[in-house]
Amino acid sequence: MTQSNADQIAYWNGEVGKRWASQQTRLDAMLAPLSKAALQTAAAQSGENVLDIGCGCGATSINLAESVGSNGRVLGVDVSTPMLALAKERAGTNNRQLTFTEADAAEHKFEQASFDLLFSRFGIMFFANPDAAFANLRKALKPGGRLAFVCWRDWRENEWVRAPIKAVRPLVGPQPQLGPEDPGPFAFADPGRVRRILANAGFDAITLKPFEANIEIGHSLDDATDYLKEFGPISRLLTDATPAQKEQATIALREALTPFAGTTPIMLGAAVWLVTAKL
Ligand SMILES: C[S@@+](CC[C@H](N)C(=O)[O-])C[C@H]1O[C@@H](n2cnc3c(N)ncnc32)[C@H](O)[C@@H]1O
Repeated sequence: MTQSNADQIAYWNGEVGKRWASQQTRLDAMLAPLSKAALQTAAAQSGENVLDIGCGCGATSINLAESVGSNGRVLGVDVSTPMLALAKERAGTNNRQLTFTEADAAEHKFEQASFDLLFSRFGIMFFANPDAAFANLRKALKPGGRLAFVCWRDWRENEWVRAPIKAVRPLVGPQPQLGPEDPGPFAFADPGRVRRILANAGFDAITLKPFEANIEIGHSLDDATDYLKEFGPISRLLTDATPAQKEQATIALREALTPFAGTTPIMLGAAVWLVTAKL
């Protein structure tokens, strides 16, 4: 483990990792349209060897394994013990071409030049030193191999984050602000930065395609409110909130979500980059 990624490794092995594992079906439903777009962009082919970076509970690793078939191979890499435990359980024991490894993708010694495709669904924005991480990952790619991942655009472009943050932020007092390059969900929001990181790591033909979709936040106002309090940027805002602040935040979140509650499930807009590059 690199010292620099230690905070993220602790974070994904703590309460958050356990919560992701316990709510993964719901998270997969929420991410479904973004996942579909990312997998279509990656277009894994029969017989290919694929690395799923920050694979979490393994949803996309399983999808990729279906695409590469019995002649292909998928390796999911992640730092979170509870999330990987679920990934292994979901993959089952008969799935010989799908394996998982618990490692820091930024520095793990992958077999050199062994993968046709490096893929990730929201698993590559947490590196303390992304230049070094992508340089390490690139070494695992075969000559002519490709990279495809999905990452969040700026939080202000993501209605599912913007509307709740506007409601909750005034209630919790001044918060330490993440810089735009600090590891976190929006660390790859700036397209110039993404291009720079990938070019520095030796990737070519870098493309960022904007993609938007409405994503499922909850089945009812209460459900959506609870969900936002437990996952993502709002849960981070509420980490150190007092019980009274949490109660106020619940009321404010409910109000902020009310305009979207005309349909079931409650859907809010999401905005991502579909990123591709080649060696
Ligand atoms: C937002 S979650 C996405 C999980 C999964 N790809 C999905 O879409 O359900 C981010 C994932 O990246 C993993 N991660 C963070 N830093 C990592 C690192 N240095 N090496 C490998 N995985 C990492 C976390 O443990 C977590 O599973």
